Amino acid sequence: MMLDKFKLDDRVAVVTGASRGLGQGMAVGLAEAGAKVVLVARTLSSLEETAARIVKQGGKTKIVQADLSKVEEADRVIAETVAHFGKVDILVNAAGTQVRKPAFEMTEGDWDYLMGVNLKAPYFIGLAAAKEMAKAKRGKIINITSLLSFIGVSNISIYGASKGGLASLTRQWAVEWAKYNINVNSIGPGYFKTELTAALFADPEKAKWVLSKIPLGRTGVPEDLMGTVIFLASEASDYITGQVINVDGGWLSA
Ligand SMILES: NC(=O)c1ccc[n+]([C@@H]2O[C@H](COP(=O)([O-])OP(=O)(O)OC[C@H]3O[C@@H](n4cnc5c(N)ncnc54)[C@H](OP(=O)(O)O)[C@@H]3O)[C@@H](O)[C@H]2O)c1
Repeated sequence: MMLDKFKLDDRVAVVTGASRGLGQGMAVGLAEAGAKVVLVARTLSSLEETAARIVKQGGKTKIVQADLSKVEEADRVIAETVAHFGKVDILVNAAGTQVRKPAFEMTEGDWDYLMGVNLKAPYFIGLAAAKEMAKAKRGKIINITSLLSFIGVSNISIYGASKGGLASLTRQWAVEWAKYNINVNSIGPGYFKTELTAALFADPEKAKWVLSKIPLGRTGVPEDLMGTVIFLASEASDYITGQVINVDGGWLSA
């Protein structure tokens, strides 16, 4: 049955940034599709909220509290996943952060912080996960990029560069790891109201500008990513690799 290919029943997924916002929504969606989901972020109380939502819908989950700006945490997250659930089939790299200010004011510290969380952390957790996936000759890696991988917007230069890098990394890994049957794809969200974009939406002028750019006429909600992440994590997408699927209400097509 074709619809069975969307099921994630015996799969183990690691979702970074699962404590709130888009990562939380995708973790809940993957669990609803049947996956056992490992929840990764720094804030334990928020991770517990995500876990409670998954348990309430009958799912299985484990929390691994980690600060992914510390590169050594990548190996620990994957080791704890394998110790607890025996394997890792799916990785969703959703943890991300933002610094908004003019490019002239950006510092080396801003660069290291943004590149560390948005690009270096996905790289090294992806590496640790792919080593497990390569042994199993099967895996799905989904990097959460952005509209800003492709367009320029003022005051978020380093963030944009980190997300452009992540879109490229998706293609590099897709080609290099195809021989291990690891599919590597990205989801590029448009504008969603979360903690990450709160400062932007607090400015009525900017909020109006954002809305004016979206053909579908509204900003995204975490549920808008659930179908795409389940699809890319499932057998239904086995012949898709190296792609970015933009979930942006049509922004990039306008
Ligand atoms: N919202 C949008 O419009 C939008 C658009 C395009 C792309 N995105 C991308 O989507 C992803 C999720 O964004 P969001 O809007 O949901 O943002 P958010 O609400 O601010 O959530 C960010 C997540 O990343 C985690 N995180 C941040 N720094 C971390 C660190 N050092 N170690 C571990 N976890 C860390 C946070 O958890 P803790 O604070 O608990 O650690 C949280 O779970 C990001 O990659 C973002 O760039 C968002």
